Amino acid sequence: MSYQLPDASEKAQYVEQKFTEIAPKYDLFNDIITAGMHRYWKRFMVRQTGISKDAVCLDLCCGTGDIVYRLGETAPQGRMVALDFSQGMLEIVRQRNVSGSNRLLLLRSDANQLPFATGVFDAVTIGYGLRNVSHLVDCLKEIERVLVPGGALVSLDVGKVRIPWLFEISQFYFFHIVPRLGKLLYPGQDMFDYLPHSSIDYPDQERLKRMMLSVGFKQVDIFDFFLGASTVHVAYKH
Ligand SMILES: C[S@@+](CC[C@H](N)C(=O)[O-])C[C@H]1O[C@@H](n2cnc3c(N)ncnc32)[C@H](O)[C@@H]1O
Repeated sequence: MSYQLPDASEKAQYVEQKFTEIAPKYDLFNDIITAGMHRYWKRFMVRQTGISKDAVCLDLCCGTGDIVYRLGETAPQGRMVALDFSQGMLEIVRQRNVSGSNRLLLLRSDANQLPFATGVFDAVTIGYGLRNVSHLVDCLKEIERVLVPGGALVSLDVGKVRIPWLFEISQFYFFHIVPRLGKLLYPGQDMFDYLPHSSIDYPDQERLKRMMLSVGFKQVDIFDFFLGASTVHVAYKH
């Protein structure tokens, strides 16, 4: 385990560059390491937004657009913004926009400073994104700011398995198997070591809930999958 995480000052540039490098095979990687389950979790998180057909939604750290397309299906008369700072990821979303939908705006920007007015989105989704932002609390504050009153933030990310011996097994999988699977797709790519290491300082389910409450969300519900290895937080704005 000789991998070293980038310094906080270099994190954003590192993460942006590395996600651009793996963008073409990112979905395949996700399918492999979750045995396709990420698709189910993403459908689940979109259901949790509770959005109406004409909702206005923001998908942060959108990657290849998996979540924003599901939002678009759920809100067929709605408007969506897909935001990511990786040009490579946004290019894939653009290519997937086969219908040329003008309901979808692609935006290259940083999730820590959202270029939107206060109280404009009915829902904000973020899949495997909070773990990657440089300033987690600032990002949560920004999300809370751009939501309409009563709007929902839904975050999907890795969680901490709550049963000790199963936690050890999940850590072995995440730290030893996942990087090897990733390097079958991109030999020598250290992004696949970054992914497990980025979870070390990431808060567990309860701590993340407390952080969400501390920035002003009024209620936070947690849904665990695989005993907490994967987790969804649903946070409602006052
Ligand atoms: C693990 S991928 C998740 C992609 C997608 N949401 C999914 O669930 O499959 C994380 C994405 O977040 C983006 N990202 C990380 N930090 C970011 C930030 N501070 N601002 C904008 N995008 C960021 C990366 O470029 C990458 O596309």
